[in-house]
Amino acid sequence: MNNRQILVTSALPYANGHIHIGHLVEYLQTDIWVRFQKLRGNRTVYICADDTHGTAIMIRAKEEGIGEEELIASMQEAHIADFAGFDIEFDNYGSTHSPENRALCAEFWAAMHEADLVSEEEVEQLFDIADGMFLADRQVRGTCPKCGAKDQPGDNCSRCGAHYNASDLVDPVSALTGTAPEVRKADHLFINVEKLHGFLDDWTQSGKHLQSEVANYLKGHFLHEPLRDWDVSRPAPYFGFEIPDSPGNYWYVWFDAPIGYMASTSQWCDRHGEDFDDWWRSDRTEIHHFIGKDITYFHTLFWPAMLKTARFSLPAKIHIHGFLTVSGEKMSKSKGTFVRASTYLEHLNPAYLRYYYASKLTPRVDDLDLNLDEFVTKINADLVGKVVNLASRTARFLEGDTLSETYPDDGGLFKQAARDGRAIAGAYEACDFNRAMRQILAAADRANQFVEHHAPWVLKKDPDKADALRDVCTVGLNLFRQVALYLSPVLPRLAKQTSELLNRPIACWDESAKPLAGTPVSKFSHMMKRVKREQVDAMLAASTEEDAKPGQRVH
Ligand code: MSP
Ligand code: ZN
Repeated sequence: MNNRQILVTSALPYANGHIHIGHLVEYLQTDIWVRFQKLRGNRTVYICADDTHGTAIMIRAKEEGIGEEELIASMQEAHIADFAGFDIEFDNYGSTHSPENRALCAEFWAAMHEADLVSEEEVEQLFDIADGMFLADRQVRGTCPKCGAKDQPGDNCSRCGAHYNASDLVDPVSALTGTAPEVRKADHLFINVEKLHGFLDDWTQSGKHLQSEVANYLKGHFLHEPLRDWDVSRPAPYFGFEIPDSPGNYWYVWFDAPIGYMASTSQWCDRHGEDFDDWWRSDRTEIHHFIGKDITYFHTLFWPAMLKTARFSLPAKIHIHGFLTVSGEKMSKSKGTFVRASTYLEHLNPAYLRYYYASKLTPRVDDLDLNLDEFVTKINADLVGKVVNLASRTARFLEGDTLSETYPDDGGLFKQAARDGRAIAGAYEACDFNRAMRQILAAADRANQFVEHHAPWVLKKDPDKADALRDVCTVGLNLFRQVALYLSPVLPRLAKQTSELLNRPIACWDESAKPLAGTPVSKFSHMMKRVKREQVDAMLAASTEEDAKPGQRVH
């Protein structure tokens, strides 16, 4: 039954900034889902890479006075370290600036030509003479051509809502240098996505691949009218791949970025002697993309269109999550809530955030709030108070000893939690981690009541009750192990500690239905500390002090 072959990706983080707790919503959500699939015995590969091309990288490299390649190399190293610090485990972490990606881009490009989707049109772009760069829409400000509002960005007006081209702004000023940019004309290459309109209607509205709110959004905002041609080239200077049949022009970063999923897969295939086509051109493999709501458009319209045209597999599902808010507000540098992954790790245990996000994640696109008071309460009440406590209250009575030879009568608790495994697995599969956590914690509650009721600390005082003590602790530890197993996609370190304590690895889901008996119990060592509000405050204080320039969303 569990022999699916699954390829999973998270969006490729931009190489122009550090990983922060907002990004982590996505990488933790994906990592948990991947670990769950692996635990179920499904052959699963988790792929990611840095997204390295485009204007934002050029700007940051310039600011730091280094070359783009140097910047992306050091950023990739930093990203890898941040992810590892949160126990996010990729099977391959690549880069869009790789030979594999260049080759695949050329293959896609040839397919676009073959399908007669490419055309050329003249485009006006603003050029910053002082910096020698074309400006992205968000890098210019000026007066709205429609209503005259001052200081508006280059794509749409915040006062009247008008959409326009950056070159239409009145009195534009470059956000990079403060100088007046000039309008330059250049020929750009466009993909005629409208030719795939029928296919995209079917694919997005089939009810199989997208959350229903996403399908409705696409229908209401894009698919109800002809799709606009997609501008996929940028003239030099641009940091990216030069288009083979169009010297002096480069693929726009959003053309080569999703292809990076495949380039990174191809590196993994090379290392493991796997056939690339078995992963990207085969019905055997389910492809699952995890992304945030801000990049829906690229992944649900352009990307399927590209894959279809180049005859690769389409994703089985695109899982879209909302944005992180902190105590009800947008992440803010001045409030210290724009917390980098590395800063978090200096102050807090990654398991806390893994569990907190898991407890908040649903299959819907809603934003997710990190409420810092609730964070402290939840970790202490659930993880320390209910889960870890179950082990610490029972293990110490059996240290260096063994569990009872046969699993004792527990009033049906173990069986009940084993039966609940189906529902819990269903919740994980559906990305309803909130529901999974509630069900698991309910099992922990029942187990705690059992321990409370049989009070091993009282039995311990009576030498005649040694057998009863062993039985009660055998039950308590087995119920704990069940909980730790169900939580292991979220809390891999706790699973490892549990494996060591009970001398039996937590390696597959089915073990949740088989109690241990007669096996040795190791010395109990401390599993998880309570979190103090002061640690959280120290993290916020450290975040306000930091050089605040991560992840500017310009590209
Ligand atoms: N480089 C593109 C993705 C290319 S995929 C072919 C990009 N990078 S990003 O670094 O800006 O974001 C990476 C992922 O993190 C995206 O899915 C984005 O939605 C997610 N998040 C970034 N900030 C976030 C929050 N504050 N909250 C939740 N998710 C966020 O987009
Ligand atoms: Zn306006």
